[in-house]
Amino acid sequence: MPWPVDPQGPLARSIADLYWLMFGAAIVVLAIVVGALVVAGIRFRERPGHQARQYHGNNLLELIWTVVPTLMVISFSVLSFQRLTLVNDVDSGTAMTIKAEGKQWVWSFQYPSDPAFKLSDGTYLKAAEELHIPAGQKVKIELSSVDVIHSFYVPKLGGQKDAVPGRATEMWIQADRPGTYAGQCIEFCGTGHADMLITVVAQNPADYAAWQDAAVKQANLFNDPAVAQGKQFFTTLACAGCHTIQGLTGGKVGPELTHIMSQKTPIGGVAGLDVNEANLIKWVSNAPSLKPGIAMPVFSNKAGGPLDDATILAIVKFLETLK
Ligand code: CUA
Repeated sequence: MPWPVDPQGPLARSIADLYWLMFGAAIVVLAIVVGALVVAGIRFRERPGHQARQYHGNNLLELIWTVVPTLMVISFSVLSFQRLTLVNDVDSGTAMTIKAEGKQWVWSFQYPSDPAFKLSDGTYLKAAEELHIPAGQKVKIELSSVDVIHSFYVPKLGGQKDAVPGRATEMWIQADRPGTYAGQCIEFCGTGHADMLITVVAQNPADYAAWQDAAVKQANLFNDPAVAQGKQFFTTLACAGCHTIQGLTGGKVGPELTHIMSQKTPIGGVAGLDVNEANLIKWVSNAPSLKPGIAMPVFSNKAGGPLDDATILAIVKFLETLK
């Protein structure tokens, strides 16, 4: 449903209320103006037996159609300024501050320097595309851009602000209840503008903590020296010749592994061999023993002996980052 009929946060609701008030007033004005026009056109038209009289000036009427619109415009200005003040009130009662950086054509989110977001390399969680916030809490968004002007807008949560290169801008969002809210960059910023989406996921405290934990673990995977080493092994050893990982390798013989950890089918289609660390280790060590006749051989090291456990584990640790 469009946001004015389905606002999901206090800011969006406040803006929607004014939207409907203005919409209602516009309908009333339209009805009065068009109604008067039609009535006057019919009643006072020149016709046989009726001569249209010429008027000049009517103080009362002119006063009404000057004063009423003036009062309307003034009240709407006051109400709009109240909303603007609310949009700009980023600091009172704020539960969390997240930095959102616009870049052609993706938003990335830097979570607060809070122990819960701390990664193993001492930095704090940074993620793109999906923004996770606690439901029912006010979240301040600090906007920046590294290239051109972008604009952050999640209609059902309200407010909209530009991210301008070289200038800090701020806004806030709040979701009444858990849910997923779609947003979009709404300042034309180049060919990928239409794809510069924002997905806000609001969660209750338990789900938020669980997500926090999983996201930090996932990010830490990339800080694991074994992962970096495994990636190097994967791209320099035989693996790369047969397997595609989007953006990394282009082998065509074996199955693509870009999202191996998300696949629902077992490894190599072998029943019972679900995708997990233990099974991946077995598979990389000796695939033919699990699926006889398979093209993937048992690999050896440079000296001709079997691959050592550390190398296999590093490769598997790297595979585990492919979700
Ligand atoms: Cu970024 Cu449009």
